[in-house]
Amino acid sequence: MKVILNILGWLLGTILVLQFIQIKIPPAPKATKADEIKAPKDVMAILKTSCYDCHSNETKMPWYGNISPISIGVHSNIKEGRAWLNFSIFNKYNEQKKQKIYKGIVDSLKVKKMPPPEYLLIHRNARLTKEQVKTLSNWAQSFIKEDK
Ligand code: HEC
Repeated sequence: MKVILNILGWLLGTILVLQFIQIKIPPAPKATKADEIKAPKDVMAILKTSCYDCHSNETKMPWYGNISPISIGVHSNIKEGRAWLNFSIFNKYNEQKKQKIYKGIVDSLKVKKMPPPEYLLIHRNARLTKEQVKTLSNWAQSFIKEDK
């Protein structure tokens, strides 16, 4: 019993100490409404519920997202996700970058890489149905210019 209490004490202590590590999401890049991606309603709805938390300036942070050590993972996801693709500044990207994004969307949907599986464990409403995957994939595909 004493051993268990000891372990619990250490665990609690460690978690408390970890709270001193405060990781902040990097400030969102400046964007106007015109910079945001424009897409048909059904596509926008999918992007907003399943992608915007990590790929836009409109991150909805869950309460536990600021608790270490969870915050470390959550914040790096947002930082890297935004760096790769930020729908809030989509219209600032040049054509080359946009092409890379459209291809990336088609590919990552194909291998079920996006939205990340660990995120879907918690955000069940972000799961995509087969229909939604098709809608999003077809939409991205329609912009891809094959260079021949
Ligand atoms: C939990 C955060 C999170 C969510 C939600 C999320 N992404 Fe990502 N995404 C990331 C991170 C982090 C990266 C960069 C690192 C990597 O490639 O794993 C990334 C990378 C990407 C890439 C580049 C992939 C590559 O390697 O070629 C694309 C495209 C992408 N995401 C599209 C999407 C789309 C579309 C959605 C919604 C259906 C989505 N993501 C939802 C975090 C997220």
